[in-house]
Amino acid sequence: MEVSNKRIILTGAAGGMGGILARELAARGARLILVDANAEALNALAGELEGATAVVGNLSTYQGCEAVAAEALETLDGGVDLLINLAGLNSFAAFEDEDPARIELLMHVNVLAPMWLTRALLPTMQRQGVGRIVNVGSIFGSIGFAYFTTYSASKFALRGFSEALRRELHDSGIKVTYIAPRAVKTPMNDDKVMRMGAATKMNMDSPEDVVKKIIAAINNDRKDIYFGFPESLFVRINVMFPRLVDKALAAQNRIARKFAKSND
Ligand SMILES: NC(=O)c1ccc[n+]([C@@H]2O[C@H](COP(=O)([O-])OP(=O)(O)OC[C@H]3O[C@@H](n4cnc5c(N)ncnc54)[C@H](OP(=O)(O)O)[C@@H]3O)[C@@H](O)[C@H]2O)c1
Repeated sequence: MEVSNKRIILTGAAGGMGGILARELAARGARLILVDANAEALNALAGELEGATAVVGNLSTYQGCEAVAAEALETLDGGVDLLINLAGLNSFAAFEDEDPARIELLMHVNVLAPMWLTRALLPTMQRQGVGRIVNVGSIFGSIGFAYFTTYSASKFALRGFSEALRRELHDSGIKVTYIAPRAVKTPMNDDKVMRMGAATKMNMDSPEDVVKKIIAAINNDRKDIYFGFPESLFVRINVMFPRLVDKALAAQNRIARKFAKSND
């Protein structure tokens, strides 16, 4: 699906990747509904871009997602070509230290919000006979990463949702794309994660590069895409030989633990 001139709902639009993606889509003539909880940043972005409307909303609740979907559809005169589920939250912590409320919030924003929004918009796409849902996951949705346990669990769930829905919608004219970036330099990764990433030599991409690849994946009708080498190879090895990956990550896990448990 060419993104040019499409009606697009983009969540997480005020975030590190979201702002860049919104600008690229606007430059291609898309009619954009930009969704985020960060009202100030979202309104500033929408004000800059032709054809963009800000919909400030909280995606951590079912009611919030329903309200966003209803407002978006009304603004787009009842139709939508593309839903990009980009909003997400991260958590870097030893699992015993993870706040139960944070686990719940993360699962709501990373898993349930894409499901609730898709559920709300699917009947419209089915009536149209055409549409696309793009779910932005992570390499951590295929390789469970120590100290990103909650985040990994959420992205595994999002990948499973994407795969099952893609199969369910086969022949419907509605396509599903699952996108799995490796680490990206955005505000999602706080100072502690950045220091751990440097200590473990974690590969990190620029958000501009990732956004280019997301647009290419949509334009080229990709079912799924995993970014970066050797990470994309490790995704395959982890399916067939997970014990090899256990061993390969052991040293990295020990370093990550020090950062996850430290108070600075
Ligand atoms: N950065 C990476 O290393 C990386 C790697 C692989 C995949 N990804 C995935 O890529 C996507 C975008 O990440 P990013 O790096 O651009 O993150 P980001 O800069 O933190 O942006 C995420 C955006 O989502 C918004 N958001 C969070 N909770 C929300 C809620 N309840 N309702 C509405 N909006 C909410 C945030 O708003 P607030 O600022 O108000 O919280 C923020 O604007 C995420 O799904 C992430 O998991 C990121």
